[in-house]
Amino acid sequence: MSTLMSNQIEQQMLLRANGFIASHASTVAESKMRQRYHFMGPAGWINDPNGLVFFRGQYHFFYQFNPYEPFWSHMHWGHAISDDLVHWKHLPIALAPSEEYECHPRGGCFSGSAIEKDGRLYLIYTGTSNHGNGFEQTQCVAWTDDGINFVKYEGNPVLSAPQEVPTDFFRDPKVFEHEGKYFLVCGAQKNGRAQALLYTSPDLLHWEFMNVLFESRGEWGFMWECPDFFPLGDKWVFVCSPMGAGERTCIYFVGDFDGRRGRFYPQTSGEVDWGLDFYAPQSFRAPDSRRIMVGWANGWDWMPTWKDWGPTWRDGWCGAFGVPREVALDEKLHLVSQPIRELASLRDADTKTEIDSLIVESSCDVPVGDGISYDLSFEIDLDSTTTRCAALLLRAKGDLGLLVECDIENAELRLSRDTADGWSAGVSRSPLCLMGKSQLDVRICVDVCSVELFVDGGRVVHSINDFAPLENNEIRFQVDDGQLVIKNLVGYPLKAVTDPALTFELH
Ligand code: FRU
Repeated sequence: MSTLMSNQIEQQMLLRANGFIASHASTVAESKMRQRYHFMGPAGWINDPNGLVFFRGQYHFFYQFNPYEPFWSHMHWGHAISDDLVHWKHLPIALAPSEEYECHPRGGCFSGSAIEKDGRLYLIYTGTSNHGNGFEQTQCVAWTDDGINFVKYEGNPVLSAPQEVPTDFFRDPKVFEHEGKYFLVCGAQKNGRAQALLYTSPDLLHWEFMNVLFESRGEWGFMWECPDFFPLGDKWVFVCSPMGAGERTCIYFVGDFDGRRGRFYPQTSGEVDWGLDFYAPQSFRAPDSRRIMVGWANGWDWMPTWKDWGPTWRDGWCGAFGVPREVALDEKLHLVSQPIRELASLRDADTKTEIDSLIVESSCDVPVGDGISYDLSFEIDLDSTTTRCAALLLRAKGDLGLLVECDIENAELRLSRDTADGWSAGVSRSPLCLMGKSQLDVRICVDVCSVELFVDGGRVVHSINDFAPLENNEIRFQVDDGQLVIKNLVGYPLKAVTDPALTFELH
């Protein structure tokens, strides 16, 4: 195909997709189930965060996007910009499948990342084609000079799967610069086990295999989706979403990186998030050096039936991101995360709930704003709490609600949505280290269809979706025995972020 012809096809694909969004965005904007302050697409389906980057004074988020339906298919790259990571403006789609190397009818442009070089923003992503072997994957490059219009590199694809790697298990390149060289980590598989392959390049266009950065010996699954690799302090962190690792859906390893040999030596490992709805996160460095991580607030586990995609699809959309988190390491080299401080700009301080000390002997309601969109924090005073299990019901109505249980006797945290919304099911569980502690801090971000819990200084995080109707808005502490003592409770209603208008030009 000539370059001119392929440019024309791409322009047509973009025009069609952008036009489709423009005519469907108002239905989504009116959806009662719409998130109020979490990032969502303007219409259709979204999954992984892609290419998160600060470029020319603004944050850019790209994302896996099917503009046409509230289901996964036809992957495009959606695009939005922000000054503060809280208020977003949607831009025209950045990448639409148009080339032979991304022509899989359901595949398209899969996940990837972004990096700036000499004032130009490069996207490195996975193209999926179809030659009868499933979603055949290669790595491709596109760039922009104006931050809106993207050009696909004529030399694409820039990387094909090595011989021993199945072509449908070679995806999600994460690019970074280290000591004057560009590196790319790519999810792969060899002999049925997950691998992260490391490549290097002088110019982002020509890539050479360097080493197997890190691999599973079977214990960490058969494929690592969306690997991320970044420095934090004087350590390096590897994050991925493993396939075939049981309940683990997003794990991290902390250790050292030998950039000369291309090897990672992990020292600690853990769960980035224990919840049922946190997957494929990507991190980036903010201008003030914070490491910010954003995950897709969903998971593939509920999709195998390919029939029921959750209640929001009826309103023409499906999928949102979790609250962006600032991540850091604690003294034991474990990852800790907290919602970014910018979220506080949405707090309505005039109507905040503040309780210095609360003793719960059976049950106690604590109203915060409208009970739907808020940010709540408190401490459990472990010294004077005598109950074996402290429970908190969120988005509740009567006995129904999302049940958070802090099982003090068994040192376990559980979030159950079995009686939350009549549609969702499942319990997420994590150990909770209470040894030597006299108090336990809890921070909760609730929105129309999601709950995120950050406990113990952000060492334990659970993200979970809950599609309860808006009239389910009670917040209730309850105990069956003894007493629960809560200290320093502060709850802020969070204001809705104005609906992002579709401000782009269609031609
Ligand atoms: C992770 C993932 C990626 C892939 C993308 C496709 O959620 O499966 O591995 O690139 O989604 O949309």
